Amino acid sequence: MSRGLAVVTGASSGLGHAYARSLASRGHPLLVVARRADRLRELADEVAALHGTPTTTVVADLATPEGLAATRDAIDAWGAAPEVVVLNAGYGSRGRTWELDRDRESGMVRLNCVAVVDLGVHVLPAMVAARRGALVVVSSAAAWQPVPFMATYAATKAFELHWTEAVAEELRGTGVRALAVCPGPTRTEFTLSGGGSSTYPGIPFDDVDLVVRATWRALAAGRRRAPTGVVARGSMLASRLLPRGLVLRAAALTHRERDHA
Ligand SMILES: NC(=O)c1ccc[n+]([C@@H]2O[C@H](COP(=O)([O-])OP(=O)(O)OC[C@H]3O[C@@H](n4cnc5c(N)ncnc54)[C@H](OP(=O)(O)O)[C@@H]3O)[C@@H](O)[C@H]2O)c1
Repeated sequence: MSRGLAVVTGASSGLGHAYARSLASRGHPLLVVARRADRLRELADEVAALHGTPTTTVVADLATPEGLAATRDAIDAWGAAPEVVVLNAGYGSRGRTWELDRDRESGMVRLNCVAVVDLGVHVLPAMVAARRGALVVVSSAAAWQPVPFMATYAATKAFELHWTEAVAEELRGTGVRALAVCPGPTRTEFTLSGGGSSTYPGIPFDDVDLVVRATWRALAAGRRRAPTGVVARGSMLASRLLPRGLVLRAAALTHRERDHA
């Protein structure tokens, strides 16, 4: 059977870019979404040259109803159920919540939560009817516990984790799988701009390809959640074993900015 369409949101950089390249190398035609048209075009040219991959680029702001509608229309225009959908677009912020930009915080909820539900609910009926496929939602190791100084971000990631795990269970027996990927700190524009290794001294950063490989392994193993890397696995264990107050305090110490010390 030939490979079906792979949809990747947030494919213009970081993890989404790596997922798109990997899916192209596995023979999937691509539909990639982000706001930066030039980056999507470069990606399309690269995978066309490397693998002959046909790519549809959708330049859209997924925090808006218009961007979501444009993406849904582009997926429908393909004319068949997607085989792999990676809902990856997301961003975070750091600082005391009441000092952060209100629009940016609520936009984060629209992108990290509303867009995931909107696109997930849109693609799943056709995938279930086709009895094949995988929905991958990129959550985070921040989902295990509340994270002071990243309060909105961690809450959106917990939403993604719980939503995806619940949907995965609903999908049992349908031939379609759902997986929440929970990366630890990973080298991307996200961490370089908002809190890289200089902000978290001593914490190892994973490579995007490690996360992508772990995703395909977890899907093959039928998992519903995939902590990727040592930090993600260690923090999952800690959040299960340690008292909530202690976990919160440790998270605050790790994530506070220096002027909040
Ligand atoms: N890096 C880490 O340490 C880490 C750890 C755990 C989880 N994650 C998660 O991994 C995912 C990808 O992040 P990343 O680390 O790869 O960061 P990144 O390099 O900054 O990539 C974020 C992607 O999301 C897209 N995006 C942002 N806002 C958007 C919007 N309004 N509409 C459409 N696309 C938008 C960006 O494209 P445009 O700017 O072109 O729109 C970009 O392609 C996120 O969900 C993040 O929470 C990252």
